[in-house]
Amino acid sequence: MSLDLSIQLAPRHKQGLLLANPVMTASGTFGYGMEYSQVFDIQKLGAIICKGTTLEPREGNPQPRLVETSCGVVNAIGLQNIGVEALIREKAPIWAGWRVPVIVNIAGNTVDEYAKLAAALEGVAGISGIEVNISCPNIQAGGAAFGTEPGPAGEVTAAVKEATSLPILVKLTPNTGDIAAVATAAAKAGADAISLINSVKGMVIDINERRPVLGNISGGLSGPAIKPLALALVYEAASAVDIPVIGCGGITSTKDAIEFIMAGASAVQVGSATYSNPRASLDVLEGIEQFMKQEGISKLSEIIGAARQ
Ligand SMILES: Cc1cc2nc3c(=O)[nH]c(=O)nc-3n(C[C@H](O)[C@H](O)[C@H](O)COP(=O)(O)O)c2cc1C
Repeated sequence: MSLDLSIQLAPRHKQGLLLANPVMTASGTFGYGMEYSQVFDIQKLGAIICKGTTLEPREGNPQPRLVETSCGVVNAIGLQNIGVEALIREKAPIWAGWRVPVIVNIAGNTVDEYAKLAAALEGVAGISGIEVNISCPNIQAGGAAFGTEPGPAGEVTAAVKEATSLPILVKLTPNTGDIAAVATAAAKAGADAISLINSVKGMVIDINERRPVLGNISGGLSGPAIKPLALALVYEAASAVDIPVIGCGGITSTKDAIEFIMAGASAVQVGSATYSNPRASLDVLEGIEQFMKQEGISKLSEIIGAARQ
């Protein structure tokens, strides 16, 4: 039986963003893809999302930045990255020789910074799309993340859309009261797809030292601990918008990924699972193929949203 796992992630976009399969790596958990290309054939993946990129290089937060907790990790890396110029100079030329599409995750503190980042990536060979991380603090509006309210989420999306002809994914934060409203605002402002969720605000305390473990005090919780939360938000967001939704949050197995697809996700991202199993994303992909064979499913699209009531 021939299997069709391909997914059009940007159906409203002129060129579209066709992925050979729905499994990608989550930003910040796979570097720029180079290290993992030594571990397994990363070209088999649907797409790679690189580390969050800012206009200037960033050193990140004080150590410690990563702490394990029950069924997950809490991180406060603080967007340590090489900056957009170095990314264009050093990484994009390597990606240009890859079969797997690479999507660049961008982060800014003002709407203008996001627009400048998008403009800088325009026309660069090796970059297939932009993922806009709207979990960053909006410093011109008191520091609340852009993604907590529909207004600023739409504003950032519109500015990025205006600045680039690349397909754009907008990555939502779970730290909002109304995910459907934020998803709708992003879709209306021109997002080609939305991805969710980013990590959930969290903290760990060292009871002997009587202080928070992370140098940044709090951070973002990820891993299996957040999966049911992520799944419910993906279900809700997918019901609210008519653009593709990419599910992320605690996916460690094929079963997890299929749950997200049945909740309405057209594709999935594997994040923290890569830390305990560097080839987790490929294992998930191979498992999806096996599941489709077992269940007699020839096209993945047959099961997208299959669990929606
Ligand atoms: C160490 C670490 C760094 C991350 N860096 C970014 C980032 O730069 N940009 C971003 O949008 N998300 C970032 N994330 C969030 C992940 O991409 C993902 O949304 C989140 O971890 C939930 O998925 P998971 O439970 O599969 O890890 C990071 C997560 C971790 C654990």
